[in-house]
Amino acid sequence: MGKPKVLVTRRVPPPAVERLKRAGFTVEVIEQDNPPGRAVLLSRLGGVAGLITMLSERVDIELLEAAGPALRVVANFAVGTDNIDLAACRERGVRVTNTPDVLTDATADLAWALILSVARRVVEGDALVRTGTWTGWAPLQLLGLQLTGATLGIVGAGRIGTAVGLRSQGFGMNVLYVDEQRNAVLEERVGARRVQLRELLPVADVLTLHLPLTPASRHVLGAPQLAALKPTAILINTARGPIVDETALVAALRKGQIAGAGFDVYEHEPRLTPGLMELPNVVLLPHLGSAATATRQRMSEMVAENVRAVLEGREPPNPVK
Ligand code: DGY
Repeated sequence: MGKPKVLVTRRVPPPAVERLKRAGFTVEVIEQDNPPGRAVLLSRLGGVAGLITMLSERVDIELLEAAGPALRVVANFAVGTDNIDLAACRERGVRVTNTPDVLTDATADLAWALILSVARRVVEGDALVRTGTWTGWAPLQLLGLQLTGATLGIVGAGRIGTAVGLRSQGFGMNVLYVDEQRNAVLEERVGARRVQLRELLPVADVLTLHLPLTPASRHVLGAPQLAALKPTAILINTARGPIVDETALVAALRKGQIAGAGFDVYEHEPRLTPGLMELPNVVLLPHLGSAATATRQRMSEMVAENVRAVLEGREPPNPVK
């Protein structure tokens, strides 16, 4: 009998397919860059023992039933696993793995790209020059937030939140963080202080979100929290869209309750909440957090190693409990 079949739900950087084929597995790829339609995905699951999924694929009871008992491992090409019904996988004995650590730096870098872009109004400035409407230097033109001495508020001080905090050293910011646990790295290396969210909101100049999406983190930033921010504050979300109530965010931005926002993820991704796109003081990216070439290569290697381990009867390097 040949080696089990592995299905990859999208084109990914080469290592995943190369490594699995080299190890003797039959590998099928849904050869497209955009998410496959649900019907296409379900129709490809027959006899699949290893499934490599993206964050846009819902791995739920329907999918697990379509795959049947052959399925032994779902290797998510992401660190977040909010697209996966972990309990349903556990019940069926399907292992779930993810790609932690390798995307921490790339995602933290992108959070900083957004912080700087929104604080210093980079995209608005670019548009001014590009549209030929710039008439020259002016003392009151596109004034933004000076980061030196400002307060960076980190909500969720896990791997990525910590990396964002460490990068703030170069900007001379004060760092406050919200997390269930004390973060010794942030406290010792950047003098950060742990606070409650309600204490952080009125003092943060930059509020950056780094929570995983769970029922508890949905709409952590809603209308009351947005109202508690300073009118000069900026909000950055590189975590998961539903952590912010985007309808409330659009209203807050329109009212000038906060100064701006930088988003890489969206509540109804890839759809945008009405009104968001029209606002000049937001910078909107298409979920690029881990989109650095070296990072995506490593993620591709990791999904292969995780699938291979489970299908060869070993413990995977990155299990999700
Ligand atoms: C993740 O890994 O969860 C990112 O959102 C995509 O790389």
